[in-house]
Amino acid sequence: MDSPQRSTSGLSDLQSPAETYTPDTDASVGYEENLRTFLENLQFEEQYILVTGGLGFIGSHTTLELLKANYNVIVVDNMSNSYQEVFDRVHLLASRYHESRGSRMPSLQIHNHDFQDCVMLRALLKQFELSTRWEPPRSKISGVIHFAAHKSVEESIRQPLKYYSNNVTGLVNFVSILEEFGIKNFIFSSSATVYGTAANSGAPLREEYCVHSKETFHEENGDERAVESGCVGITNPYGRTKWMCEAILADLAASDPSWTVVALRYFNPIGCDPSGLLGEDPRGTPTNLLPVVVNVITGQIPELKVFGDDWDTIDGTAVRDFIHVTDLARGHIAALSTALKGELQTNFRTFNLGTGYGHSVMEVVNVMESVSSRNIPRKAVSRRQGDVGSCVAVAKRSDQELHWRTEKSLQDACADTWNFLKLNRTV
Ligand SMILES: NC(=O)c1ccc[n+]([C@@H]2O[C@H](COP(=O)([O-])OP(=O)(O)OC[C@H]3O[C@@H](n4cnc5c(N)ncnc54)[C@H](O)[C@@H]3O)[C@@H](O)[C@H]2O)c1
Repeated sequence: MDSPQRSTSGLSDLQSPAETYTPDTDASVGYEENLRTFLENLQFEEQYILVTGGLGFIGSHTTLELLKANYNVIVVDNMSNSYQEVFDRVHLLASRYHESRGSRMPSLQIHNHDFQDCVMLRALLKQFELSTRWEPPRSKISGVIHFAAHKSVEESIRQPLKYYSNNVTGLVNFVSILEEFGIKNFIFSSSATVYGTAANSGAPLREEYCVHSKETFHEENGDERAVESGCVGITNPYGRTKWMCEAILADLAASDPSWTVVALRYFNPIGCDPSGLLGEDPRGTPTNLLPVVVNVITGQIPELKVFGDDWDTIDGTAVRDFIHVTDLARGHIAALSTALKGELQTNFRTFNLGTGYGHSVMEVVNVMESVSSRNIPRKAVSRRQGDVGSCVAVAKRSDQELHWRTEKSLQDACADTWNFLKLNRTV
């Protein structure tokens, strides 16, 4: 996986003309060449990635992977669903990583405010402006990864405006301000929920099943299929916010080729960093499977409700594409690197981030029982409205175009979660 190269020693890297071999008649060429390389290195060294929501579950793991890959990171997070301590832990893990390799720790900063706070945001972006009097605006911030959003399906049904405001209005205002500063490489956290009823068939989901302009493609069996733009059967406001944001970003990219936008459609992220220092630790009542399982293990809730045991799946429980969050985080590095190198096929591109394999809810619970040696009481209840039996990615596009594929297993994810639990809770 590519990462930015840094100059190892700043000014001392600049060779003097005397040390550089150049033909006599061209004495200044070597010097100028070195000066140019030095300035390029300096400029590269001073590149930053802005990460909104960088202290959340996926954001914190991605920030860590960015730092490991030598990116300087600026986090903006209002802590509505995270804690300051996460910042300290990310910093500690990244510092340890670089110390063990004898490499220099990139810069990491945190700005505790709402990404929608235009005054704070402009003041922040101003600090990274590259002065260009006559040219279009440019910034030392070469890319943005936008995680910040509300994410509870259930809450979005009760409070849709909260979701449309933070997730959709917030995005429109945010990209408008980024544009003012010439920051036009954007990675967006999307979700498999954009596939809506396409997931009902149970067949693995290809990116072409949800598009923002008409597309024709060939199915695995060779049949040609045309897909119109639009969303079909999204069952809740949260899912619609993700689809709307994708559509807005696709329109923006179509209107201005200097934008590069990647929408990453996550399947079901689970697990945590193997250190046990980062994990999925939401402030409110969790709704994702593993945090609920964790609460059963710690005795906060008596049993796990399994929504439906009569699906047409291996054991009757729903099947999902569970992806280890570290693999998911690395998918962002792959997307960012491809975008920054200008190697995307189109300036708006969607990618599934999943393993391409499904596991049932019961399989996950059984693996958690086995790694923890704890009994996890469970009870089958009726299916949740809007749920589907199976939701699994076709992970080919991200493999072929981003050169990224998952490396970790369900066993790894459960073992890492148990490790996090042992270190951070009383179990
Ligand atoms: N976790 C999943 O299962 C999943 C699946 C698909 C997509 N996603 C998307 O991935 C992104 C990250 O998800 P996550 O699971 O890490 O969620 P999370 O809630 O753990 O992280 C979101 C972070 O954003 C911050 N935040 C929210 N609104 C903000 C605002 N207005 N200003 C500044 N900070 C704000 C929160 O404090 C939190 O730290 C979200 O956009 C989510 O919709 C998550």
